[in-house]
Amino acid sequence: MRPPGRSPRGRRRELVREHVRQVVRDVVKEGLATRLAAWKVLRRVHATGAWSTPALDTVLRRSRLDTRDRAFAANLAYSTLRWEGTLDWALSVVLSRPLDQVQDDLVDVLRLGAWQLLFGGVPDRAAVGITVELAREAVGPQSTGFTNGVLRALGRRLDTLPWPSVDDDEGLGLATGYPAWVAAAARQRVGPQRARLLLEAGNDSPGVTLRAVGERDALVEELRVAGVDAVAGDWAAAAVRAPGADPGRLDAVAAGRATPQDEASMLVVEALAAALGADLAGARVLDAAAAPGGKSTHLATLGAAVVAADLRPARAQRVAQAAAHLGVAVDVVAADAGRPPWRADSFDAVLLDAPCSGLGVVRRRPELRWRRTPADVAELAALQLRLLTRSVELVRPGGVLVFSVCTWTLEETVAVVQQLLAAEGDRVAVEATAAPEGADRLAGDPGVLLLPDRLDTDGFYVATFRRTG
Ligand SMILES: C[S@@+](CC[C@H](N)C(=O)[O-])C[C@H]1O[C@@H](n2cnc3c(N)ncnc32)[C@H](O)[C@@H]1O
Repeated sequence: MRPPGRSPRGRRRELVREHVRQVVRDVVKEGLATRLAAWKVLRRVHATGAWSTPALDTVLRRSRLDTRDRAFAANLAYSTLRWEGTLDWALSVVLSRPLDQVQDDLVDVLRLGAWQLLFGGVPDRAAVGITVELAREAVGPQSTGFTNGVLRALGRRLDTLPWPSVDDDEGLGLATGYPAWVAAAARQRVGPQRARLLLEAGNDSPGVTLRAVGERDALVEELRVAGVDAVAGDWAAAAVRAPGADPGRLDAVAAGRATPQDEASMLVVEALAAALGADLAGARVLDAAAAPGGKSTHLATLGAAVVAADLRPARAQRVAQAAAHLGVAVDVVAADAGRPPWRADSFDAVLLDAPCSGLGVVRRRPELRWRRTPADVAELAALQLRLLTRSVELVRPGGVLVFSVCTWTLEETVAVVQQLLAAEGDRVAVEATAAPEGADRLAGDPGVLLLPDRLDTDGFYVATFRRTG
């Protein structure tokens, strides 16, 4: 019997409608799972102080997302962290109370929604709808009305947000996704025109770079045979770029034939090697702040007799593990470079890859820019100068001292070097730092800047000295 009032055509239409509803439910469910994963990453970063990459690894390991959804969740989490200041500013425009009066877990929901509205290319209604579902799932049904109201209001204001001029530090920071003080520091370091390019390059995905432990060509070939799109790097002799690779799944990495390392980090080692020249093989080199050991193991691979020191024993242990994995000999010591336990003149070369603000590695740590403060920069610069000054006496006369940091602020780079020269000019002299053509050699700066907008590497500063007296 046919139900009253239902023709075959009406039943077919109803079936089609139900099918469409099911597809929408599936899409929302699928979309919700990726947003929930991204939200969990944000919560770990904000509530526990975790770094985003290990937080993401943990969340994804516990999820059932497929490869495509993992990539979507990763991009959503990283992008939301990167643009946090801009998202908070935009949300504040439409909120009737300060954002810090909204409960923290709900703020992270709103940020995810705001990123999708502002930058994600997600249609407004879909972005609002999926974020309301996220609020229900993550925070509770009581939060859905508020989430809906705030995001709909933001959706209506997208074209009329009161963006400050990019000529102001605040405006440049909002337009590029950095705090105003970082925008100001970039302007001060590379000038107003270049600052925007430098800041924007810090928002690019770094891709994967490997250091070949043996023959580079053989590694490129091995990766290609394994289906990885790999090419020799442009700058460092051992660098291999494998943009889409997952280092955790590469046999070459598991077997110690390659190790993930940014090309700029390799260039620091190359600068030291160039300053030692033919003397590198067998040279006694101290890596005074060595963990996790990228540069120590690189130096050992090039034939140096490396002593790797780090302040924290657990971190020093990581250097020993890296060396064992890569099959190179490194003498690992837990020691404070501010109170070095070695006699004066002990080393042919000392590398001080000092603790720093890390603004050169924001491509890998998008949240870092919101954790650092100008006070950190000042404190780190003072520490760098103290450690560098103590390093001078460890180098034998005629030997080499290399100072590097993975940042570009004036205070942590040229200012440290100038202070060192002012105090120790009778014991050290500036040596030209070997670097590729695209490196920046700015007027009045004895060192070189390796910057992501020119080299597509992490940002590093390197200065080389020779012990003279
Ligand atoms: C930028 S990281 C070094 C990265 C390393 N060179 C590499 O390429 O893998 C700085 C290191 O300095 C260490 N450190 C901080 N203060 C130190 C000190 N007073 N003496 C020695 N190491 C210190 C930190 O524990 C950290 O591992």
